[in-house]
Amino acid sequence: MTPPLPAAPGPRGAPLVGNAPDLKRDLYAALRRDFGRYGDVVRYQLGPRVVHLLSHPDLAQQVLVNRAAQHPKLPAGNGLGLLLGRGLVTNDDHPSWLSQRRMMQPVFHRERLAGMAGEMTAAGDRMLERWRVRYRPGDTVDVAEELMRVTLDIISRTMFGAEVGQDAAHIGPAVEEGTRFVNLRSQSAVRLPLRWPLPAHGRFRVAKGTLDAVVARIICERRTAGPGHGDLLDMLMEARDADTGERMSDQQLHDEVVTVFGAGHETTANALAWAWFLLARHPHVLARLQAEVDEVLAGRDPTLADLGRLPYTGQVFQETLRLYPPAPLVSPRLVLEDTALGGYAVPAGSALLVSIANIHHHPDFWENPDTFDPDRWAPGQTAKRHRLAYLPFGAGPRLCIGNNFALMEGPLLLALTARAAEFRLSPGQTVTPQQAVTLRPRGGLPLTYHPRRGTA
Ligand code: HEM
Repeated sequence: MTPPLPAAPGPRGAPLVGNAPDLKRDLYAALRRDFGRYGDVVRYQLGPRVVHLLSHPDLAQQVLVNRAAQHPKLPAGNGLGLLLGRGLVTNDDHPSWLSQRRMMQPVFHRERLAGMAGEMTAAGDRMLERWRVRYRPGDTVDVAEELMRVTLDIISRTMFGAEVGQDAAHIGPAVEEGTRFVNLRSQSAVRLPLRWPLPAHGRFRVAKGTLDAVVARIICERRTAGPGHGDLLDMLMEARDADTGERMSDQQLHDEVVTVFGAGHETTANALAWAWFLLARHPHVLARLQAEVDEVLAGRDPTLADLGRLPYTGQVFQETLRLYPPAPLVSPRLVLEDTALGGYAVPAGSALLVSIANIHHHPDFWENPDTFDPDRWAPGQTAKRHRLAYLPFGAGPRLCIGNNFALMEGPLLLALTARAAEFRLSPGQTVTPQQAVTLRPRGGLPLTYHPRRGTA
């Protein structure tokens, strides 16, 4: 008889709350630390629930791809679900998720998104113009906040076209307030019921109420006006289930619109913020990026066709997603039956956290894992790598549906911005990552602004 498998190692927790207070203090640092101390599988106790942190590409393959059906998402109703409803990200009911995914997949194909590149660069231009008017050379700018603004502008325009008008002014702040609340709540060990009359709950309810009302109004107006706008809303409204031919109900459409808003701007904004942080720390990489952008664009805005001619810009973006993956953990998965992972016993009912950030720093798969080296992505360098050693967009059936969108938007904005400006760190300045739902620079990213000659 084979002996039973051992439980995975992990830090000892406090009575009742277990490891929750330690993880809450600094989730990102704690998960990186425990990977270093205990290895590819770490066991935590969070209140009543056993949680396993998984930091090996084979384990990601097993949980997210091979046995995805045995590891559904943990219900998110009391966290992210408060903002996103039962849209694609938070829907944990496999049949209804699958039907939604099938309907939405074609909307996010590269060819259908191609027409949106112009909206992306136009929003980038509006951002540059705002900087030109508002800031003088050497001024300190919160780059993280500026990039959040531009990606929100982009998702608004690509979702609703030009017609949002006045309503757009309400959507942005409402999404930001909602995201802020959900981010804070995601870090909290105890989630108090939303009906409790706390100021933060009140602000969230107002923001969510505004968002819901505006989105409902826009959908209603669009139902009356009919299609012809060429935006994401048109495409989502026209999407049909391949088997039944049915369209989305108003409620489904509503939740998907809010979901794409929520999932589709903060991640890319953070990726770009980290890119500018890394470029500020590595002037030789910035110089190479600028040389490429100057040569290929010769002072004009980038187009989608240019992306193939800006390989180094793409490499910088990819390497940024490796070092600072904007979604450092995939959403928690559930273990339906007792199972084994990495040689350890994992009981039914426990939650699994696949750590994208730890896998991206795994010393068995990356040479000098902490070094920022865009040349890892040079042609010919990637062939021998484990398929899931790099998974910024997740893997398996729940792979990010917006990856093509992000891989257009990120490099386009990076090229556009690098053409016109650069940012520098102040002497002695440190920047640390903070993990909420996404990985962001703690306290923002204040950098000094330096327009490039001929663009001020
Ligand atoms: C750099 C930018 C982005 C990163 C790093 C990122 C990362 C991810 C990851 C890791 C997942 C999988 C989560 C899991 O399995 O639990 C995911 C799912 C998702 N993402 Fe993204 N994302 C990005 C941009 C976008 C954009 C631009 C959109 C929409 C326009 C989007 C929409 C979604 C949606 C709807 C899902 C849920 C898919 C499903 O469960 O079927 N994401 N994203």
